[in-house]
Amino acid sequence: MFLSVRLLLLLAVLAPVTSTTNPGVKVKLTQKGLEYGRQLGMIQIQQKLKTIKVPDISGSQKVSPIGKVQYSLTNMHIVNVGLPKSGLGLVPGTGVRLSIGNAFISLNGNWRVKYLRFIKDHGSFDLKVSGLTIGTTIIIQSDETGRPRVSSTNCAATVGGADIKFHGGASWLYNLFRNFIDKALRSALQKQICPLVVDAISDLNPQLKTLNVLAKVDQYAEIEYSMVSSPTVSKSSIDFGLKGVFYNIGKHQEPPFSPAVFSLPPQINNMLYVGMSTFTINSAAFVYNSAGALSLYITDDMIPAGSPIRLNTRTFGAFIPQLSKLFPGLMMKLLVKTAKTPVISFQPNNVTVQASGTVTAYAIQPNATLSPLFVLNLETSVSTRVFVSGMRVAGAVTLNKMDVTLGTSYVGAFQVKSLDNILQMVVKIVVIPKLNAQLAKGYPLPTIGKMKLVNTELKVLKDYMLIGTDVQFTA
Ligand SMILES: *[C@@H]1O[C@H](CO)[C@@H](O)[C@H](O)[C@H]1NC(C)=O
Ligand SMILES: *[C@@H]1O[C@H](CO)[C@@H](O)[C@H](O)[C@H]1NC(C)=O
Repeated sequence: MFLSVRLLLLLAVLAPVTSTTNPGVKVKLTQKGLEYGRQLGMIQIQQKLKTIKVPDISGSQKVSPIGKVQYSLTNMHIVNVGLPKSGLGLVPGTGVRLSIGNAFISLNGNWRVKYLRFIKDHGSFDLKVSGLTIGTTIIIQSDETGRPRVSSTNCAATVGGADIKFHGGASWLYNLFRNFIDKALRSALQKQICPLVVDAISDLNPQLKTLNVLAKVDQYAEIEYSMVSSPTVSKSSIDFGLKGVFYNIGKHQEPPFSPAVFSLPPQINNMLYVGMSTFTINSAAFVYNSAGALSLYITDDMIPAGSPIRLNTRTFGAFIPQLSKLFPGLMMKLLVKTAKTPVISFQPNNVTVQASGTVTAYAIQPNATLSPLFVLNLETSVSTRVFVSGMRVAGAVTLNKMDVTLGTSYVGAFQVKSLDNILQMVVKIVVIPKLNAQLAKGYPLPTIGKMKLVNTELKVLKDYMLIGTDVQFTA
C-alpha cells in the first residue's frame, strides 16, 4: 500500500511536464483576415437577429374622453434586419471589439382595441426601429483540446428612433398607441439583441472545433496543431502559437530537440501568415527515421532499361576486381538507409537537408540468399524546394553533394572513388525520384472548416518558412 503510494508520487515527479512550450508553428491573423471574418460574421448576426420573437403586448389605458381602452398587439414578426455599418477592431491584450452602427429592424404585427364596452377595431402595423448600435468584445482562448474558442463580453445595444405606420382604424387610436408602442417595443427588441449576438458569436465555436489539431500525414506520421497557449492580440494582428510537431501515429514520443523562439515578420498584406519552424520539419525527419521509413532496397529492375550500368557483379566487377571472381554472374541489390536523423536547415531562400547514410551492397545468390559485399558511408546534402499545394505543404529535392567513404568490405580492398559515378546515378535516378514522389504528397496545413487558400506565397527565411495567404470559406 505505502509502496504504491510512493510509487505514484515518484511517477508524478518523473512524469514529463509539457515539454514544449515554444510553438513550432505560428499563425498570424491580420486585420485583413478579420475583415473577411467580419463579412461572414455579419451574415450570421443578421440571420440571428431575424429570429427575434416579440411577445404579444396587451393591457388597458385610460383615454379621455372615452374612458378605458383595451388593446393588444399580436403576431409581431421581424420583416427585415439591416446591418449596413460594422467594424472589428483589435484591442491589444484583450480581444476583438465588434461595433455595429446605424442598424435597423423592421417588424410587422396586428393591433386590436376594444372600448366603450362594445366597440372593437383592428388593423395591422409596420414598425421600423433605426439607429441601432451594438457593441461587444470577442475573447479568443484555447479550449482544453488546444482549439480556439470564442466568447463575448460587455455586449450593449441601444435603440434609436422608432417609426410606426398603422393600417386601418381611426387616427386618434394611432396617437394612443404611438408613445406606448415606441417604448414597449423598443425595450422588447433591445432586450433580445445582445443575447442573440452573443449566440451568433458562440455559434462560431463548432466551426473552430474543426481545427485539425491532429492531422494524419501518411501511414507513419501525424502532425499536431493544438495551440500551446491562448492567442495574443496586438494592435495589428492576432497571433496563435501551435505545437507544430510530427509524431509517429499512435506513439507520441517527443523529438530529442525543442522549438527555438522565432517571430513572424510584421507583414499584413495577406489575411493569414503561417510560420513553420525548422523544429517542425526536423520533427518529421525524426519520426520517419525512427520508424525506419528512410530506407530503400534498390534492385536492377528499378534502373532504367536503357542504362548501361546494371546492378550486377559484372558492372561492379569492373571496379572491384575480386567481385567477379568471388561472385561471378550474380545480380546485386543495394540497401540505402539513413544512419541517423537527417538535419534540415532553413536559410533565406534555401532549404538544405544533410543526411548521413549507408549503402550496403549484396550479391543475390541463385537460392535468393543475400551475400553482403561491402558497406559504404554516405554524406549527402540535398536542396529542397518547398511549396504549397492545395491545403498541404510539399517539397522536392535535388542532390547537391555526396561524399562516399568505405565502411566495410567483404570483398577486399578497392577504390571507393571509382564507384562515385555509379552511386551518383543510383541516387539521382532511383532514390531522389522515390523520395520526391513521397514529398510531393506533402503534409496538411492547419485548417478550419472548408477552407481554401488563395494568393498563397511561400518564402523560406532563416530558421522558418513563411506562408502568406488569403483564405476563402466555402459553405
Ligand atoms: C544553402 O545553405 C547551406 C547551409 O545551410 C549552404 O551550405 C549552401 O551553400 C546554401 N546554398 C545556397 C545556394 O546558398
Ligand atoms: C544459398 O547458396 C549459398 C551459395 O551457394 C550457400 O552458401 C548458402 O548456404 C545457401 N543457402 C541456403 C539457405 O540454401
